[in-house]
Amino acid sequence: MRPDDRLSGMVDQVKADCGLNTVILKADPAAPADRLRQQLERAAEALRAGLLVAFPTETVYGLGGNALLPDTVKRIYRAKGRPSDNPLIVHVSKIDEINPLISRWPRLALPLARKFMPGPLTLILPKSDLVPRAVSGGMDTVAVRIPSNPVANALLRQAGVPVAAPSANLSGRPSPTLAQHVYEDLAGRISYLVDGGPCTYGVESTVLDLASGPYPRILRPGAVTFEMIKDFLNQAQLMTEPETVWGPLLANEAGLNRVLPDGEHPRAPGMKYRHYAPLAPVIILEVRQVAELAAAMPNLKTLLALLEAEQEPEDHKGRQNAGAALRPGRSRTLCALLARAEAAAWPGQLQSSDNRLWDCQVSGFAEDHSGQAAAHDLFAAFRRFDQVGAAAIVAQIQPDNSLGRAYMNRLGKAASYRVSSKGIWCKDKQLGWVQVKAGEHLPAAAGKDGSLL
Ligand code: TXA
Ligand code: MG
Repeated sequence: MRPDDRLSGMVDQVKADCGLNTVILKADPAAPADRLRQQLERAAEALRAGLLVAFPTETVYGLGGNALLPDTVKRIYRAKGRPSDNPLIVHVSKIDEINPLISRWPRLALPLARKFMPGPLTLILPKSDLVPRAVSGGMDTVAVRIPSNPVANALLRQAGVPVAAPSANLSGRPSPTLAQHVYEDLAGRISYLVDGGPCTYGVESTVLDLASGPYPRILRPGAVTFEMIKDFLNQAQLMTEPETVWGPLLANEAGLNRVLPDGEHPRAPGMKYRHYAPLAPVIILEVRQVAELAAAMPNLKTLLALLEAEQEPEDHKGRQNAGAALRPGRSRTLCALLARAEAAAWPGQLQSSDNRLWDCQVSGFAEDHSGQAAAHDLFAAFRRFDQVGAAAIVAQIQPDNSLGRAYMNRLGKAASYRVSSKGIWCKDKQLGWVQVKAGEHLPAAAGKDGSLL
């Protein structure tokens, strides 16, 4: 099917809509099918015609374009400001539509697809010749995903073409979980924005590599968790080897949150870029409960003073501290994302160890054992904090399981510092987390671009 065979009068309307303005289309995920179909008609036509359309999924908003049109794919990279060696996920509405995109189904792929798709899971599979090189970043694999969000799924079904879609944020910014976030980043760069309300999970899909070796590997943790995949493979008796053989590979404990040695290429190219970062530096607060807060506070106060010192004289010496020092030109506002109990105990003001007064703003998430509420709030909180002009941001840790693992993964990538009752750590591109000793300056390389943690 050539896309221009399907052009209709609707496309003229689409093009007319596309001056400098991004047109917002409302879509109600709870609407009956025929009503939703009407709401999505223009967006579906625009996708077929090769225009860029942002749309909601159950994870985050996506910036979609017809995956079969190399020029459209190139425009996705341009609109996002994304390096073109970082491949895109191809979205379809059902499993049958994956067939033309891949050269074969690896051993575990089809059972996993039937179990977890539609849903927040992306599979890396061997690609077919139909997928343009522009989509796969020159790799011989393709990432495929079937969103379960009713708006996304209906839009893909209606468009009838595979849709390449990265998260709909400017490259390096936090992923968008509301239509408003997409508008902030991409207004004027895309033709349509389908507003279907907030995203359910708030963190991107789990990326599972099935194309490079006998065992699956999680390249990015998400709402389809290691435990869910493991339990399914066990119950379906699909893994005959003992779990000690394949479990660690699937959990990919060595692969996540570590610095890659020089010369080693990340399996998901996106892993090598700085991610999810708000404008202000992010500090991970390693506190599990209210009782631990008081013991960590002196270290936080010291870190704030160190950041201030970093900012002042060193800048004049031309030292680079992008993304690591305090957000310049801002008042001393410290924004914190904490569980509700810790949020209730958080002070309204704080005095740093160099005796400067900081105003505190705090956002509390509901506590659950899965980390779901924290994951849902993380990116949205980063954007809110940027908007109120945070000079620095604090975010509390979550247990490293279920969605807490996805939360910690994203937080780890965004953060430049860690603070606990035991000390202060600073992220170094080469060395990973380096402890800052009493009386020392912050290491010069802290939190710079290209961080891999
Ligand atoms: O939830 C999601 O996955 C969202 C929604 C819109 O579907 N999409 C998303 O796309 O997060 P993006 O482009 O922001 O992240 C895709 C990740 C990148 O880290 C990329 O490097 C990796 O998937 N990836 C894509 N194709 C790959 C491939 N063939 N092999 C390995 N990694 C791949
Ligand atoms: Mg992204």
